[in-house]
Amino acid sequence: MESSVVVCCLVILISIITPGSWGAKSRHFRWEVEYMHWSPDGMEGVVMGINGQFPGPTIRARAGDTIHVELTNKLHTEGAVIHWHGIRQLGTPWADGTASISQCAINPGETFVYRFKVDKAGTYFYHGHYGMQRSAGLYGSLIVDVREGDEEPFEYDDEFNILLSDWWHKGSHEQEVDLSSNPFRWIGEPQTLLINGRGQYNCSLAPQLSHSPASLQCKLRGSEQYAPQLLRVRPHKTYRLRIASSTALASLNLAIGNHKMTVVEADGNYVHPFAVENIDVYSGESYSVLFTTDQDPSNNYWISVSVRGREPKTPPALTILNYRPTPASKLPESPPPVAPAWNDYKYSVALSKKVLALKGGSTPKPPARPDRRIVLLNTQNFIDGYTKWAINNVSLVLPATPYLGSIRYGLTRAFDQKPPPDDFGREYEIMKPAGNQNSSYGNGVYRLRFNTTVDVVLQNANALKANVSEIHPWHLHGHDFWVLGYGEGKFAEEDEGRFNLENPPFKNTAVVFPYGWTAVRFVADNPGVWAFHCHIEPHLHMGMGVVFAEGVRRIKNIPGEALGCGLTGKLLMKKKNGTTGI
Ligand code: C2O
Ligand code: CU
Repeated sequence: MESSVVVCCLVILISIITPGSWGAKSRHFRWEVEYMHWSPDGMEGVVMGINGQFPGPTIRARAGDTIHVELTNKLHTEGAVIHWHGIRQLGTPWADGTASISQCAINPGETFVYRFKVDKAGTYFYHGHYGMQRSAGLYGSLIVDVREGDEEPFEYDDEFNILLSDWWHKGSHEQEVDLSSNPFRWIGEPQTLLINGRGQYNCSLAPQLSHSPASLQCKLRGSEQYAPQLLRVRPHKTYRLRIASSTALASLNLAIGNHKMTVVEADGNYVHPFAVENIDVYSGESYSVLFTTDQDPSNNYWISVSVRGREPKTPPALTILNYRPTPASKLPESPPPVAPAWNDYKYSVALSKKVLALKGGSTPKPPARPDRRIVLLNTQNFIDGYTKWAINNVSLVLPATPYLGSIRYGLTRAFDQKPPPDDFGREYEIMKPAGNQNSSYGNGVYRLRFNTTVDVVLQNANALKANVSEIHPWHLHGHDFWVLGYGEGKFAEEDEGRFNLENPPFKNTAVVFPYGWTAVRFVADNPGVWAFHCHIEPHLHMGMGVVFAEGVRRIKNIPGEALGCGLTGKLLMKKKNGTTGI
């Protein structure tokens, strides 16, 4: 008892005498990942949970804090990792949580400590980054508040946090086998959309019936595990709604009946406020919107989340904005808001173009010119009869030895030393299925010169089937990038003249629309090896990604636990036996 009093006083003393780090805290978590029975939508299945929870626990921290997560893998027969989506891992590239890239997957029964700084306030999340563990439900929220004494550039009375995901009744292992089979089996659309891990499947099997009063009633019921979380509000207040999407497949649209929203944050960066009726959220993105409870307080209102960009076979997820003291059980008078048509891409493009950096905010301006431009053609292909996605005709297959260690220690046998191409043959016709649909596997790396400015142009194309081109939300690890522009058709030299260098948004995920291109710019100033990939889990699994390496020679002290597999694992063994250094 007495000693704890002493410790507490010491802590206070220390925080007073070190004003530089005043308020910055270390936050410790001990997590166990395991499979468990769960009913995310009323049907029992198996999910990947953390400490018995699904979704995993929410981490809440302040900018400048250090997070320690001691992650123990309690899965009996497979490895695990967790990626901190949107956290740049400045100075800690080994804590990025990407199997085969930044670390070895944690073996069953073993523990890995993720220790990293959250340097910037914003709405983030975390998720598995090995096999299809994100589809299995390994995810949760990570919210970073501003430093103590700092203020957000907008005001609100209270806030809510919504993590969106999609759910299949078929388990993730079976999905993985389906996707890797010849003939290929597509996993189909999700059965249910989840809001904070909760959805309602049994209410209505047919989407067109899901708005009948009985079905809507049903949507508000459910057990502990799947009853919707209601958003309880008071009249005449302003709320911040944090929204992040960890979906495996679905692009989503969120709307609050009768309430306009003002978008203020995207991917952990402030944006110039703009009003919307509803907002598209792609997998890997996060937003904050503000709304004011200025409607009739004797009513409740629907919050609806629907599928965009794919023919929707999944009913919208619903929950209720409950004006207190109106009883939550009172059904809203107006029907749930209806999303724009799933294939109204014009609408989506216009919405994406509204996201711009906050004027006078903290987002830096992009360098005027790039040092290098990489154009990445996105195609669907066949390799020996297997259906794959390829980038500049290379379908990514990750190596056994994580790149971070193999590049740092010059283990040239660990992966293809020939880097993948910076461009594709410009005669390629993006509007039709490829003439030659064959592709090949690869695991080469784009080596970026340290501190140089890199433009990446993502070029969409027709998939294998005629008249099909899909949405791909591309996510970059280790960085935020400026989104310089979106265009239709094939990217041309002249398009560079139309890039937005004035107020481009700073994001970590940007979508490339069907038959279009998207240009992003970033500075390769964060030593590490970083994945850049489509955030649709099946697409990544089918090869839709690339790997960037920058400044790797500057990295010191990669923890041994990140290296204990493949060729770096052998090197560690030799070191133990005193024959080499690492
Ligand atoms: Cu959230 Cu590599 O992804
Ligand atoms: Cu994709």
